[in-house]
Amino acid sequence: MDQVLQQKKGLVKGVFNKVFKKYDLMNDLMSLGIHRIWKKNLIQMMNPSNNKSLIDVACGTGDVVKLYLEATKNDTSILCVDPNINMIKECKDNLKNYKNIKWKVCSAERLKVPDNSFDFYSISFGLRNVKDINKSLKEAHRVLKKGGRFLCLEFSKIENSNLEIFYKNYSKLIPKIGKIVVGEKKPYEYLVKSIENFISQKQLIEKMKKIILKIVNIEI
Ligand SMILES: C[S@@+](CC[C@H](N)C(=O)[O-])C[C@H]1O[C@@H](n2cnc3c(N)ncnc32)[C@H](O)[C@@H]1O
Repeated sequence: MDQVLQQKKGLVKGVFNKVFKKYDLMNDLMSLGIHRIWKKNLIQMMNPSNNKSLIDVACGTGDVVKLYLEATKNDTSILCVDPNINMIKECKDNLKNYKNIKWKVCSAERLKVPDNSFDFYSISFGLRNVKDINKSLKEAHRVLKKGGRFLCLEFSKIENSNLEIFYKNYSKLIPKIGKIVVGEKKPYEYLVKSIENFISQKQLIEKMKKIILKIVNIEI
């Protein structure tokens, strides 16, 4: 089992090392810009006020943090976390005009921050890449203050059969788009597989309940 997890860790690192330069462009192309709407909705659900602290895990190039800072008028403390140094560098560059941000190179499974530190924990399209979901959820619970909120944006099972057929066909194009834009199709084959293999909404909710994360709102 450990070997499988280590292999996944190496695979995920390799994937993001190959795509970090064109990550934002590919996100826009693959989702036709829709990921930006999903991220805006996430911030609306958060409804952050000034002085509320945020840890954004699997921060990538910093999209969620940018929206959070715009919503809070840049007046709050934020920690961006990602195990991939190249993604962190892109994130720093994208957020260079904002203040009150810190970065940590670490994984969702081991956040290296004290207990009860944050009002919000966000993870956007990151949970499916972690090698141990249970450990990551426990870490989220540990670092959140009492009454703090966990917000997760993730692909999961499609429950509408027409949409599922559309997605199945569309997902075959994704590695081809990757090949044209990034020059690599393997990372995008991983992306499609990681979505297919990720647990269902119900399974994720069960895991969260076991870790005493109280479910408040789910949008599918
Ligand atoms: C699909 S990107 C999402 C980036 C960003 N949150 C967004 O929504 O655009 C996934 C990110 O998860 C990071 N990641 C991979 N394994 C991780 C882990 N174990 N813990 C935290 N982040 C991880 C990758 O380095 C990558 O930056």
